[in-house]
Amino acid sequence: MKILFVAGDPKPERWTQPLQALLPEAEIHVWDPQGPAVGADYAIVWQPPAELFERETGLKAVFNLGAGIDGLLKVPNLPRGIPVVRLEDAGMSVQMAEYVAHQLIEASRDMAVYRAQQRDNQWKIHRPIKRREWPVGIMGLGHIGKRVARLLTALDYPVSGWARSQHRIEDVTTYSGDAGFEEFLAGTRVLVNTLPLTEATRGILNHSTFARLQPEAMLINVGRGEHLVEADLLAALDEGLLTRASLDVFSREPLPDDHPFWQRKDITITPHISARTLRDATLEQITGKIRRLAAGEEISGIIDIDRGY
Ligand code: GLV
Repeated sequence: MKILFVAGDPKPERWTQPLQALLPEAEIHVWDPQGPAVGADYAIVWQPPAELFERETGLKAVFNLGAGIDGLLKVPNLPRGIPVVRLEDAGMSVQMAEYVAHQLIEASRDMAVYRAQQRDNQWKIHRPIKRREWPVGIMGLGHIGKRVARLLTALDYPVSGWARSQHRIEDVTTYSGDAGFEEFLAGTRVLVNTLPLTEATRGILNHSTFARLQPEAMLINVGRGEHLVEADLLAALDEGLLTRASLDVFSREPLPDDHPFWQRKDITITPHISARTLRDATLEQITGKIRRLAAGEEISGIIDIDRGY
């Protein structure tokens, strides 16, 4: 079996060595833009070039090195008829949940205020948190959204969730589709985005969405930068529709030096780190699926190219 690793990692051996240890029988190649076809059976990719699919025409499956498949769907000649597989959790959802909880608690527990007080040797106690004043609404109820919901309900925050289709999650009020969107937003103060990026969700974090939230709303975006209409976020913050935003993803990454977001005190910026791809868990998942496919068994995580996730 031949496996081709196609990701812009400057040290691909960090991946290929453990991959070889997990699949000793496999012949593993690293993508060489100038090289010949290797006749790969499986490709493990992150934002691959279109040449991959021109050159490697015998692929039996493509494995994406991330949960979000939008980068892969931009490749115009992505083959149809073979499984295109995304990463399922692989240690990412717990990181996302932790990140979201951190951003929420930072706000709900006035942490920035206490940090500022410490700088002035000031001992001053503010009113305790009322959890019902911090209803959280999670957009997207896949592995990640569900894990975020599970953590926040354990912390007794009121949690609701919204997705394209109806989900059932213990202790979470769920809404679905266009019909449920308005009601979902009306009950939400802290809007958390974990949606996949598709044509239907691009730009969903816009002024009209922000205007429907509860007063003193907050945005936490761990989905994709393209979910957010950046000018609308700035307007909503300036108008007081939103009081703060925590952003881990951006339309352009790295976020350009002269981007207005950098200067805002009401925006927290992190460089796409809310959930790192964990090498061991990722490779174990992918190699397990390669073995199952090779044995003619079913696997989970196959994306629907037309649906976009
Ligand atoms: C990271 O952004 C991912 O999609 O896994």
